[in-house]
Amino acid sequence: MTRVSQIGVGVIGSGFIGTVHVEALRRVGVRLTGLLESSPELGATRADELGLPRAYASLDELLADDSVQVVHVTSPNSLHYAQAKAILAAGRHVVCEKPLALTSTESGELAELAAASGLVNAVNFNLRFYPLNQHVHGLVAEGGVGDVRLVSGHYFQDWLLYDTDWNWRLEREHGGALRAVGDIGSHWLDLMSFLTGQRIESVMADLTTFIPVRHRPRGPVLTFSTERATDTVAIPIDTEDAATILLHFDGGARGTVAISQLSAGRKNSLAYQIDGAASAIAWDSERPEQLWIGHRDEPNELLLRNPALMNAAGRAAARLPGGHVEGFADTFAAAFRAIYADIAEGRPAARPPYATFADGHDEMLVGDAVLESSRTGNWVHVARDGVDSARDNPTIIDNRSELEALKR
Ligand SMILES: NC(=O)c1ccc[n+]([C@@H]2O[C@H](COP(=O)([O-])OP(=O)(O)OC[C@H]3O[C@@H](n4cnc5c(N)ncnc54)[C@H](O)[C@@H]3O)[C@@H](O)[C@H]2O)c1
Repeated sequence: MTRVSQIGVGVIGSGFIGTVHVEALRRVGVRLTGLLESSPELGATRADELGLPRAYASLDELLADDSVQVVHVTSPNSLHYAQAKAILAAGRHVVCEKPLALTSTESGELAELAAASGLVNAVNFNLRFYPLNQHVHGLVAEGGVGDVRLVSGHYFQDWLLYDTDWNWRLEREHGGALRAVGDIGSHWLDLMSFLTGQRIESVMADLTTFIPVRHRPRGPVLTFSTERATDTVAIPIDTEDAATILLHFDGGARGTVAISQLSAGRKNSLAYQIDGAASAIAWDSERPEQLWIGHRDEPNELLLRNPALMNAAGRAAARLPGGHVEGFADTFAAAFRAIYADIAEGRPAARPPYATFADGHDEMLVGDAVLESSRTGNWVHVARDGVDSARDNPTIIDNRSELEALKR
């Protein structure tokens, strides 16, 4: 077993989330070797600002550095596939931001390569690692709420509310064919599968683009920037601003979620309620220290995150005593502690608590079903294991034909 402090880590990208990775990696105690950016010049500037020892000129140069055992990919979505593939081919463990790739063809290939490699492979669905979400995972698994029946919630942000709001995510060649669902909905969908232990089996989705033309600033734009530029170019938009999705889970649960990046006032609200046969639980990422527990025959409870009151998984994700607020950035350190425990062992655990490339690929397959359902207006099964494609799937549940059959 390698000591974590001896593990060398290179980071690709130093934007909004790359910076959070670097800070969390410092807390985990690994040895940061350097940064790869979009250009050597930007890399040198950012390496200096972040206190990293060097900037790599290319991915080849990063992978030629023998002191690197792990690479974190925090570049825009369209680069994940090629970069993760090269990292695995070079025999390095990889932590990739979500979504794993632009298409399920790419993510399927990455999942296969990762499984064959024996290397640790993780997709950063970090919201699993809020301590209360870790606690809920264990609570549901041990039957604490009874059989899960109904899962509902939303993921709302407002930073793309105006037609002058711009980011690379709006262009499908950089972000992918699904935008709000791929960017933030994927977190909600992954979290619900993680918490309930049930995979999404089929979906009925409605995707909407409320702002069909946006005004792209001619200069660069930072993620989450709300500045309104005046020198802009009009760009037609063909990805969704919002989605509503009905869900069937393979354990019998039913679900519904609304996803939007146009919800004024909601800065980053991932909310869920899980209704079980015995009790219910609800949580919102804008109040991440509080877990609501609903009862029918006794007063409801509000559990404040507190290592002394959570199960072992919740305690492991927490670092501070109750009342000392832990938030978004802390989930990265908690996720990385779990991932680096495996890297120290040199291989993935049998059932890792973090999302793997297989989970990242599964999320892309759910995304395919969402797109297909929105296009056809039908329920669509998630086409797993390459057995069937969503388009040709004979098991697609066509509500309209079922209705016609009932009428006859
Ligand atoms: N897990 C989360 O909570 C979370 C949150 C935000 C973003 N993300 C994901 O992280 C990724 C980055 O998002 P962001 O918001 O930080 O974007 P960003 O635009 O702020 O940062 C992207 C960074 O990648 C760099 N980059 C661009 N091309 C590059 C190249 N060829 N080689 C190396 N670096 C390159 C950019 O210069 C920039 O520093 C996306 O995949 C996004 O989905 C995840």
